[in-house]
Amino acid sequence: MNDKELVAFEAAKLAKNGMVIGLGTGSTANYFIEHLAKRQVEEGLSISTVASSTVSAIKAHSYGLKVVSIAELKRIDLYVDGADEITPNLSLLKGRGQDLVMEKLLAKAADQFIVVADKSKLVSRIGEKFIIPIEVIPGAWQMVKHQLEQHGAEGDIRLNAGQDNVAISAYGSYILDMRFPAKINDAALNTLLNNTPGIVEHGVFYGIASQVLIADNGNIEVMGV
Ligand code: A5P
Repeated sequence: MNDKELVAFEAAKLAKNGMVIGLGTGSTANYFIEHLAKRQVEEGLSISTVASSTVSAIKAHSYGLKVVSIAELKRIDLYVDGADEITPNLSLLKGRGQDLVMEKLLAKAADQFIVVADKSKLVSRIGEKFIIPIEVIPGAWQMVKHQLEQHGAEGDIRLNAGQDNVAISAYGSYILDMRFPAKINDAALNTLLNNTPGIVEHGVFYGIASQVLIADNGNIEVMGV
């Protein structure tokens, strides 16, 4: 097992009979889906799942997991997902895969939000390695960009893979990819983005994770016990 699979395997042990479990998006979340399905087959585990993306729903269906619509749910028991960056105080950067609206909704609705990642995701501050993805109402992208630039941000609207049109998120938003000055800490960044009109959702997950499982060469470290 590689490190991503190892943490996913560990997180799958948290599933219990009767739980509604949120499925994240990405390569680590994919391993979680596989190990959850394995437990269902091997132990007769009885669970329902809700997916953060169409691609995860398709994967879960293909492995025989029951997938319910988010519209049917008020809350969920457990949400397991990867992350792009993780700080020592469990702030996360997520959303590279353009599914962050659903990811944050499920993370917030879960009694337990468990993050699974390998050591490469550890950073000292959000935005250290990656740009911050910010989903905006299409008509508002220029106003939002201008307002964020007043706080020292730099960046631009994301283009599609062919570079011939703007990228559209799973939620139907445009996406701004922005960098912020290092002096703006995770809490301030979260507040700024939450308070800027026109932003649908953003990739800073501040104060939401319950626990982070980090795999490092076959060993697992638990952050936020
Ligand atoms: C998906 O939108 C992201 O939030 C993912 O959680 C993130 O990109 C992690 O992906 P990997 O598990 O593939 O590293």
